[in-house]
Amino acid sequence: MTSPKEMEVHENYFRKDWVLIRGVPMICAFSENWERIDQFQALPDDIVIATYPKSGTTWMSEILDMILASGDVEKCQRDFIHNKVPMLEFSAPNYVDQGTKKLATTPSPRVIKTHLPVQLLPKSFWKKNCKIVYVARNAKDVAVSFYHFDLMNKLHPEPGTWAQYLEKYMAGEVGYGSWYDHVKDWWEKRKDHRILYIFYEDMKEDPAREIRKVMQFLEKDLGEKDVETIIQHTSFQAMKENPKTNYDTQATPFFVNAISPFMRKGIAGDWKNHFTVAQSEAFDIDYAKKMKGKGLQFRMEV
Ligand code: PPS
Repeated sequence: MTSPKEMEVHENYFRKDWVLIRGVPMICAFSENWERIDQFQALPDDIVIATYPKSGTTWMSEILDMILASGDVEKCQRDFIHNKVPMLEFSAPNYVDQGTKKLATTPSPRVIKTHLPVQLLPKSFWKKNCKIVYVARNAKDVAVSFYHFDLMNKLHPEPGTWAQYLEKYMAGEVGYGSWYDHVKDWWEKRKDHRILYIFYEDMKEDPAREIRKVMQFLEKDLGEKDVETIIQHTSFQAMKENPKTNYDTQATPFFVNAISPFMRKGIAGDWKNHFTVAQSEAFDIDYAKKMKGKGLQFRMEV
């Protein structure tokens, strides 16, 4: 439960503008005392789940936890997803759930969530050669999902209208900066580090295939039955109904699920219900310029 005093502290951070961390727009509440991130000490067996926001982090987090638990559903119900897989940069001063604090008591192997662009990841993760699973999702669905998230997450600034938001998103003036740079820089980084780069759309298309890729990366050999259990337990519907994974407002005082639920739609291609034809065409022209020549292909629907 959040005490009135704690809530007062939280409210100081509600709807504040982004704060730049080395040029990257960061959630105001997370931005203070950034040394805690720069100086974070990774452990060699840490597993990082890195994503641009709204790309399937929660889904992959639960999959990773299930794989590490060898498909044991009961074990995975031990705690809320944000406690099992702490978010590195999370902070709301005086709030017990600060990410780095929580990680100090998280048993190994730790699964650590982050949305940081590659250049802001603490150096220690590279030095310790930690395994990183990066999940990427197509730019248009991320824009729609992020817009709804800004509407319901009081730690973010108000997003304005969808049209205003889309302009800011294309200009990289949203939390964690440019989607384009994020996905491209992590894509480059995989050439010289242990990074498994996975696409949300591929997970939607064939979860068993993608879960097996993750298992192989983690050197965990589970049977067909376990894979099937993981698919069932981490389906959108199951995670939406599961209080441990659905980011219910009760558990997360910054989220207002009545405005837009955290588990919103969970599909590929919802952007078609939000982009006008003109917005989509302008987006595509800009997208082609920004993504040219990188060999990084996204599917806008499955
Ligand atoms: S966050 O806040 O950045 O960590 O959010 P993140 O978890 O990365 O992304 C949230 C979106 O992922 C959808 N989601 C899922 N899709 C499919 N299957 C499962 N199991 C699942 N769990 C979460 C969630 O609904 C958000 O997408 P939208 O498009 O808004 O529904």
